[in-house]
Amino acid sequence: MATDTAEAVTAGQFWDRHVRSPDDRVNWWSSDACTAAYNEQVCGEAVPGNSRGCRIALAAAAGRPLGRGVSVGAGAGDKERALLLDGIVGEMRLWELSERRAAEARARAQADGVGDRLEARIGNAFVEETGAFDLVTWDHSLHHMPDIDAALAWSVARLNPGGWLMINDYFGPNRLQWRRDEVQLCNRLLDEIDRTHGTSLRRVRRSNILTRLRMHHRDPSEAPHSEAIAAAITRHLGAAVKPVGGLVMNILGGIVVPAFPENHPAIAALVAADRAALATGKWHFGFTLWQKPA
Ligand SMILES: C[S@@+](CC[C@H](N)C(=O)[O-])C[C@H]1O[C@@H](n2cnc3c(N)ncnc32)[C@H](O)[C@@H]1O
Repeated sequence: MATDTAEAVTAGQFWDRHVRSPDDRVNWWSSDACTAAYNEQVCGEAVPGNSRGCRIALAAAAGRPLGRGVSVGAGAGDKERALLLDGIVGEMRLWELSERRAAEARARAQADGVGDRLEARIGNAFVEETGAFDLVTWDHSLHHMPDIDAALAWSVARLNPGGWLMINDYFGPNRLQWRRDEVQLCNRLLDEIDRTHGTSLRRVRRSNILTRLRMHHRDPSEAPHSEAIAAAITRHLGAAVKPVGGLVMNILGGIVVPAFPENHPAIAALVAADRAALATGKWHFGFTLWQKPA
């Protein structure tokens, strides 16, 4: 699975331009109400914090600190750094295409006093990484892989017997091209928010050939095969994906969260609509935790 192609270079350059401070209020992951709703589905605890529910679920399942972990598409490494700071994993190796994001991961780990336990590398993990790990974690990055089967086979091969594979990811429409029913559901919520709060938020656009081409041009790694991930997980692990919701938060988070403070009723409406969608079987985000047989 090549990551040194023109597409990988374009993807790395795209993500180089998208390094944000963890405190920016940009999307659902910046909202405590959204992350608490997400975490509740993952681990049963409505605690705020991006991916905190995954850490809670992993710590509970493993029942002991894990030695070494690896993460591909780790970005600025916030989730991997949290695994170290929470004492869940001893050392983390990160793989990225974006030099700036890897540099940011190193700098943030240094600042938090775990720089000597977090290594961020640039390159093709599937060729260059041949080590053995107690944890392989994919966090909103598996959907960026050009070959899901190869990524899952590599994940299983890299695990020590008894090691854990954790997948917290996006399973929605390929290339983030929202379906008609998703767009209608989300725009109805925006109508309600505008009517109630006097705002004029931008609406969600239907997918068409131009939006599809634009997405591919912007970031060729964005969700090429996201719709196929759940079946691939079942094939490789014999495990099911737990739906955690996220359809409304994912499509509208970037519109609603920056427009309102955290305690505003519009944020509660966003979360409520997301839960209602999950209850009717509509979701984008899912979670899987699997242990390699000892
Ligand atoms: C949506 S971001 C997620 C980042 C991080 N896991 C997080 O949750 O904040 C996806 C990341 O995957 C990286 N990426 C995309 N394709 C990759 C590949 N083939 N190998 C390594 N990283 C890749 C991008 O550079 C980007 O930083």
